[in-house]
Amino acid sequence: MRDLYPIIRPLMMALEPEKAHNLSLKMMKFGLAPKYKQAPRAELEQVLWGLKFPNPVGLSAGFDKNADVIGPCLNMGFGFVEVGTVTPKPQSGNPRQRVFRDIANEAVINRMGFPSKGVNAFKDNLEKFLGSKNHPAGVIGLNIGMNKTQKNPAKDYGLLIRMLGPMADYITINISSPNTPGLRDLQQREPLTELLKEILDVRQKSCGEHAPPILVKLAPDLTPEQREEIAQVLLDVKIDGIILGNTTLARPEFLDKDFREEKGGLSGQPLTDKATELVSDFYRLTKGQIPIIGAGGITSANQAYDKIKAGASLVQLYSALAFRGPSLIQSINDELLSLVKADGYSNISEAIGVNHK
Ligand SMILES: Cc1cc2nc3c(=O)[nH]c(=O)nc-3n(C[C@H](O)[C@H](O)[C@H](O)COP(=O)(O)O)c2cc1C
Repeated sequence: MRDLYPIIRPLMMALEPEKAHNLSLKMMKFGLAPKYKQAPRAELEQVLWGLKFPNPVGLSAGFDKNADVIGPCLNMGFGFVEVGTVTPKPQSGNPRQRVFRDIANEAVINRMGFPSKGVNAFKDNLEKFLGSKNHPAGVIGLNIGMNKTQKNPAKDYGLLIRMLGPMADYITINISSPNTPGLRDLQQREPLTELLKEILDVRQKSCGEHAPPILVKLAPDLTPEQREEIAQVLLDVKIDGIILGNTTLARPEFLDKDFREEKGGLSGQPLTDKATELVSDFYRLTKGQIPIIGAGGITSANQAYDKIKAGASLVQLYSALAFRGPSLIQSINDELLSLVKADGYSNISEAIGVNHK
């Protein structure tokens, strides 16, 4: 299937962002997404947590919240796809309009608030994908969150791990979306330690041989003191990985005036450097001992490579897809390969954290 994006981009940009997104999902379901078949490139492959990543560029959570289009996403060239955030019970999220664009700055603000069809529908979709013959290869991460009305977060995270853990390549604990009241408070030392210990315990008891690695997704708005504190907790509980990071509450001055006043989390280009600094800080604070997935404002191979040199083993993107279309994935991978070779590395893993050496 040829890339229709250059033709449909003006329409997509004219539509309300969430409508444009839902239209993309529909097109993908109907097989109208481009497929990029690329020969395996040994230089970009990595094995992490025992999982083989064919390339380091992943789709960030929030694009495919209900695990509807895993196959088409992998076919677009992503090395891995993170689906969710899924909540236990269905919930509709915040009232619409809840997603906004600043096209000139390639920025998005969203305050979706975890709309989710709930874990039963999510699990059905995942089972259908995994059970389908000849489904595309690639790593599938499941991003989990709590319902808005839940007062005891461990209950929701525990239930989701029991139900989904055995099917997951990895699980991401999302405690950093700014749109669920109280969620980001779980990033404080005591609640975080308690929650993670409980989650790791549930994993051990319920997933047996299929125990997936557990990753934690954090916000870029953490203060230096919070970063230090959290890094120590993550080392203490022996978490498997960290995703850095989620959207930011910050609003750089140069953003469009009406846009910047919208409530929610900002993503896309204005987040690039802030997110790279977050990766760098956590790599230093955890002494490179915990694999990091870097996310935030990646629109080019150079920006992906910057995050890798700052300490990320893998990267993810979401917002740039809306502005650049799916061919971006292929071109980032092509150019990453050139950057790795130009630096004289035989594999991209040799570039991880080189800025710290
Ligand atoms: C519309 C939208 C919805 C999102 N939903 C989720 C979500 O459900 N769970 C999550 O962990 N992150 C979510 N994110 C955050 C992204 O996964 C990512 O961490 C962030 O946007 C930074 O990457 P980007 O600049 O490449 O978009 C969402 C982002 C956007 C733009």
